[in-house]
Amino acid sequence: MDKLVITRPDDWHLHLRDDALLASVLPYTCARFSRAVVMPNLDPPITTVAQAAEYRQRILAARPAGSSFTPLMTLYLTDDTSAGEIRKAAAAEFVVGVKYYPAGATTLSAAGVTAIEKVYPALDAMQAADVPLLVHGEATDPTVDVFDRERAFIDQALAPLAQKFPQLRIVFEHITTADAVEFVLAARRGIAATITPQHILLNRNALFAQGLQPHHYCLPVLKRERHRRRVLEAATGGSERFFLGTDSAPHATADKQSACGCAGIFSAHAAIELYAEAFAEAGRLDRLEPFASHHGADFYRLPRNQENITLTKNPWTVSRTLKFGQHDLTPFRAGAEVAWRLEGNDD
Ligand code: DOR
Ligand code: ZN
Repeated sequence: MDKLVITRPDDWHLHLRDDALLASVLPYTCARFSRAVVMPNLDPPITTVAQAAEYRQRILAARPAGSSFTPLMTLYLTDDTSAGEIRKAAAAEFVVGVKYYPAGATTLSAAGVTAIEKVYPALDAMQAADVPLLVHGEATDPTVDVFDRERAFIDQALAPLAQKFPQLRIVFEHITTADAVEFVLAARRGIAATITPQHILLNRNALFAQGLQPHHYCLPVLKRERHRRRVLEAATGGSERFFLGTDSAPHATADKQSACGCAGIFSAHAAIELYAEAFAEAGRLDRLEPFASHHGADFYRLPRNQENITLTKNPWTVSRTLKFGQHDLTPFRAGAEVAWRLEGNDD
């Protein structure tokens, strides 16, 4: 199969940044996706519905002419998030969820949750109003091995949380391990997971291939081959619990190629094409459409998109750098080939 027509997909986990940086990266997402769930980890974070409304307007204003792309907003959960703010979020149609960063787990997570008990009132309100919780699922105890932090989080935090709030809908974001796949498959109703392109295309060897590779560093960090294979199986396996979320997370090249490089992989410029590659490798291109265009919309109880996109097997070479405000960024596959092409993308 060299040509694939699918319903236009949505990106259920995306970092867009703000201002000039936003203007640089947004067109790549608009060209591919109809909607995206926008992460709230700005500096300062988006913690209120009023801030989310303003950020949403900036995103709408930054769209290329003619784009009908719809940003779906999230709030950043903090120790101080009130039940009242959650009720406002539930009433605001453009807010689709609340993001839970354990404090210190990742980029701009310092304002995150320091102890889960502190957010029980907010979680109660979310459960009552049916607002989904989007979870960065990594333990923050620095003594836990970095490759074991997802598994540790499942046992110590996520499983008890899912039990304590039995009606709360939860998205386990950017899963990277077989442990996470098994957890999601065996979990109660209302639990789903997003999967990134890098975690189904690469294993942790990619971090050290012929030298340290900062552009393959993201959080959760890439895992060993056994995990990559299991996560790919989950993505291509047909379960409605798994759906597309790129976690495309742009950083200036200089901030990644530094003595303390930032976590984040930018994939928005080739996102659906990269997933097509992974699904083709698995011999399951037929499962790309439900994963990319159906399961997420169904979970968030939004209509599926009406339009189609066309992908062809027609390799193209990714630029070595892309503009990022006043800076530049190094995209995923920089200077190398992507096997699938989006019709209308003449890069
Ligand atoms: O690699 C990552 N980058 N993981 C995250 O959780 C945050 C993201 C970012 O915002 O750069
Ligand atoms: Zn993210």
